[in-house]
Amino acid sequence: MYVCVCKAVTDRQIRQAAEGGARTLSDLRRELGVTADCGRCASCAHECLKEARRCKAHPDACLPLAA
Ligand code: FES
Repeated sequence: MYVCVCKAVTDRQIRQAAEGGARTLSDLRRELGVTADCGRCASCAHECLKEARRCKAHPDACLPLAA
């Protein structure tokens, strides 16, 4: 699913960024460009990042990334 339409960033990319160490919305902006244009994706991107980080901390409770 697209989280940031302006930069064509998906939830999968956000999960991968979290796996790579992204911890904040600023990290996502720097790495993927989310919120850099209209900013409407900020809330959704933040929720997606929080969920990805929760899954990283508790992997047994989360589905793996699709191949
Ligand atoms: S939807 Fe992300 S900057 Fe516009």
